[in-house]
Amino acid sequence: MATNEDNLKKIISHAKEYGYVFQSSEIYDGLSAVYDYGQMGSELKKNIKDYWWKAMVNMHENIVGIDSAIFMHPTIWKASGHVDAFNDPLIDNKDSKKRYRADVLIEEHIEKIRLKIEKDVAKGIERFGAAFDEQQFRTTNPNVLRNQVKIDEINARFKECMNSEDLAGVKTLIEDLEIACPLSGSKNWTDVKQFNLMFSTEIGSVADTANTIYLRPETAQGIFVNYLNVQKTGRMKIPFGIAQIGKAFRNEIVARQFIFRMREFEQMEMQFFVRPGEEMKWYEYWKEQRLKWHTALGIDKKHYRFHDHVKLAHYANAACDIEFDFPMGFKELEGIHSRTDFDLKQHEKFSGKKLHYFDPELNESYVPYVVETSVGLDRTFLAILSSSYKEETLEDGSERVVLKLPAILAPIKVAIMPLTRKDGLPEKAREILDNLKYNFNCQYDEKDSPGKRYRRQDAIGTPFCITIDHQTLEDNTVTIRDRDTMLQQRINSTEITALLNEKLDVRKLLG
Ligand code: GAP
Repeated sequence: MATNEDNLKKIISHAKEYGYVFQSSEIYDGLSAVYDYGQMGSELKKNIKDYWWKAMVNMHENIVGIDSAIFMHPTIWKASGHVDAFNDPLIDNKDSKKRYRADVLIEEHIEKIRLKIEKDVAKGIERFGAAFDEQQFRTTNPNVLRNQVKIDEINARFKECMNSEDLAGVKTLIEDLEIACPLSGSKNWTDVKQFNLMFSTEIGSVADTANTIYLRPETAQGIFVNYLNVQKTGRMKIPFGIAQIGKAFRNEIVARQFIFRMREFEQMEMQFFVRPGEEMKWYEYWKEQRLKWHTALGIDKKHYRFHDHVKLAHYANAACDIEFDFPMGFKELEGIHSRTDFDLKQHEKFSGKKLHYFDPELNESYVPYVVETSVGLDRTFLAILSSSYKEETLEDGSERVVLKLPAILAPIKVAIMPLTRKDGLPEKAREILDNLKYNFNCQYDEKDSPGKRYRRQDAIGTPFCITIDHQTLEDNTVTIRDRDTMLQQRINSTEITALLNEKLDVRKLLG
């Protein structure tokens, strides 16, 4: 049976072979946790961004988008708490010399226990079929209960240590759980230390600490510091949102997880400014909306789940993640946070500028509360890519690898294929392509046999292939093949645009 690691390896190699993702600086042996998107990957990424922007900005009259700079005044990161507290607890294994995030080691240990629970549940389902009462089993089975207690105890101990900044306690927890280094197998650990994740550089020509600036670790602060500019110039009334897509940088200590945890990545964030006291209503609203956005893509709903934060950041009064079942298990895909008025109040304090909003309906001014939705673009890419990757055995016994990408996100929407390279078929095919290319990203493909060309387009994830044959020259009809069903339909070439428009209508997802 293929392991999760095997699956991830296959996806990484497929992504490279078909121009989706390359290791950065590959010819120089690569740069760790940094990746480049190739000719297909950059299209998929762009389509995900468009889908997000459409759902968040175009579909909401009270949400607008901005594009703020990566470099910002360094005091912003003092105010936001990133200079003092944007740390990961790190621990080194003395034998392998490998560095780990202490919280990740503990999380992985918990995940192993959780998998034992799931194994017991799966056994029950297999044994009792439809008669199996999963809910009852989870709440009464002694094995499940014992393992759940273990998980709760570990979580509680870890939370307690982090809240009281007891790093020695975190080390003791790792020792008590007998966690071993995956590389050396040894339990010979250093003390746990805090490590700031921000990259810094100097602005201007003089190297001086006064000139130190940071590469933003999140796009959100660019929204906070612009909130009054946007509110005033856009005449926005609370509740309203500001959305942004952009790069963020974190000096992550990473295990091999491909584009899941990168040092340079992109976020799609939205801050929703609300009346104090109304934040929980909007928090629930955005939880529901964001899950809907993900599941509308047609990926199996059971790949998603909410995870409420055990440990709330000091500025939040509610927070959860939407987790996705990645090849390496359920992990955070998106964060939804009720951030209170913390950020705006901090910026008032550090900048000395008033950031109050005057509410004409209440006839009073206040600092708005903020509900944030923050999804990683690269993680969304990995979620979509990994769940779309399928190896299939066809009826004739042959195999195909197909990327069953949501059609609306596929890099190439339609491949145009003349059956042969003669008899005027390429010319007719190009005529059709020239007509379609204004509306759809098309690829012209005349090399190899039709079967091979289909396999190539399946591997890229192209949802439709149009073949131009001798009949096309007689009656202007073409065949259109569906990637997933592999069924072909003969239609008049004048009907192609309408058919593709119907199949690729974003209304079906967001309507
Ligand atoms: N403004 C809130 C914020 O930045 P976060 O949970 O730290 O919250 C939000 O990040 C999202 O950004 C995550 O859910 C994840 O999808 C993505 N993300 C965070 N760090 C990442 C990394 N190193 N590589 C790729 N994506 C990352």
